[in-house]
Amino acid sequence: MPRQIYGGGLLAPTIAAVGLACSSQEPLPPQPDGWDVDLAAAAAVDLDPDPNAVKIDLTAMPAPLAVRPGTTTEVWTYNGQLPGPVIRAKVGDRLTVRLTNALPEATTIHWHGVRVPVEMDGLTAVKPGETFEYSFQLLDAGTFWYHPHINSSAQVGFGLYGAIVVEDPDQPPLGDNAVMVLSDASIDAAGNLAPGDADGWFGNYFGREGELLLVNGRAAARIVARPGLPQRWRLINAARSKFFRLAIPGAEMIRIGGDGGLLEHPEPIDEITLTPGERADLWLRVRPSSSGTLPVIAKDANRFHVPSVGPDRELMHIDVAADAAVDAPKPPATLRSIDALDTNGAPTKRLELMEKSAPGGAVLGINGLTGAEASPIHASVNTTEVWEVVNATKFDHPFHLHGFFFQLLSIDDVAVSKREWKDTINVQPGKHLKLGIPFDNRPGMWMFHCHILDHADLGMMAMLMLMK
Ligand code: C2O
Ligand code: CU
Repeated sequence: MPRQIYGGGLLAPTIAAVGLACSSQEPLPPQPDGWDVDLAAAAAVDLDPDPNAVKIDLTAMPAPLAVRPGTTTEVWTYNGQLPGPVIRAKVGDRLTVRLTNALPEATTIHWHGVRVPVEMDGLTAVKPGETFEYSFQLLDAGTFWYHPHINSSAQVGFGLYGAIVVEDPDQPPLGDNAVMVLSDASIDAAGNLAPGDADGWFGNYFGREGELLLVNGRAAARIVARPGLPQRWRLINAARSKFFRLAIPGAEMIRIGGDGGLLEHPEPIDEITLTPGERADLWLRVRPSSSGTLPVIAKDANRFHVPSVGPDRELMHIDVAADAAVDAPKPPATLRSIDALDTNGAPTKRLELMEKSAPGGAVLGINGLTGAEASPIHASVNTTEVWEVVNATKFDHPFHLHGFFFQLLSIDDVAVSKREWKDTINVQPGKHLKLGIPFDNRPGMWMFHCHILDHADLGMMAMLMLMK
């Protein structure tokens, strides 16, 4: 039996749990009073007293909320909240979620990035008025999210998404958590949501972006920070199509984790780009010399690769507290270890993301076929495969595989030396990315698709049959 090699989880107890290098220093002061009250998403209520089990009721329902300032909009929510409640658990816990569908159409929940058994993956329709119970063990620490997987471009666009944070008590504490679900919404001056299929084919082909940029459902969110005191921002891009490219002049950002938990080594960055579905775990602090208000700037990620980029927008802002600056230590140089994949002799597959003409406009697909036309590709449990994902179109496509993490091995045959577990990765036009995918023992039919959900609708999706 090949051993489980994802790391960061139950089945790989080999993590180098590295303590903070600052144990001899003074403990850090707390965050300023009320630092996150204007931003935090409400937490889910755990109905199970068992410390190793988390049980949550989610009702998918329309609810009137003030999303665009000065208006009220009937958005789609879990439990009347936008985003849905933050689900918190620790690695090894069993998570049980009872979904009740109070929407006018069928829905499901897909647990993006979580290694669930296939029957829990959210592909079984839950009709209006019905209830479905999802239950699975959380094998990996990290930042994940949940969203529907039926009519998902429209349902996600209407507000159905929420965060899952799985902590590993053996990992070093890396700052106070602020979970930030990034999304966008298209709401007119009267407070009406744009229809899910606005602009028809053009909307699908280009990917619908809303003019309102939201952090945890808020159009002008704010957080308070003490100079020099780190915060841990767990970012999730839950937009149906929009890429978020963020910069914060005046703050110091270090990326410490991604889709599948911590990186091996912290990575100082000036900006971060998150494509739909991707997550980032940031160690962030306002520079000790900063004061006043710092905007968090959303830059144009230019996913169409056009010469003229759009203007900078303010996504949210940081109010710098008047407290004395602190000089906190940086994150430890090693966060955990991630084993290299053994891809010698591994079966390979080539997946070309492409478009082709069709009546009514182009369609998107993989290897010449749309999702409706393609038959499943096959792989076997407990093997590692190398998938070469090639983008033959002129626009970016974030490639997402359900159920399994992968490592990026190379871009255009140039080896990537930093190891990281991913489940969603952007493929730029003309690039070919080699991904190493270790399949564990969860047979069944798994989906892969572009996470610009409008592109998945236009055909860029297919199925993997993982065989015993
Ligand atoms: Cu988050 Cu099939 O997707
Ligand atoms: Cu795409």
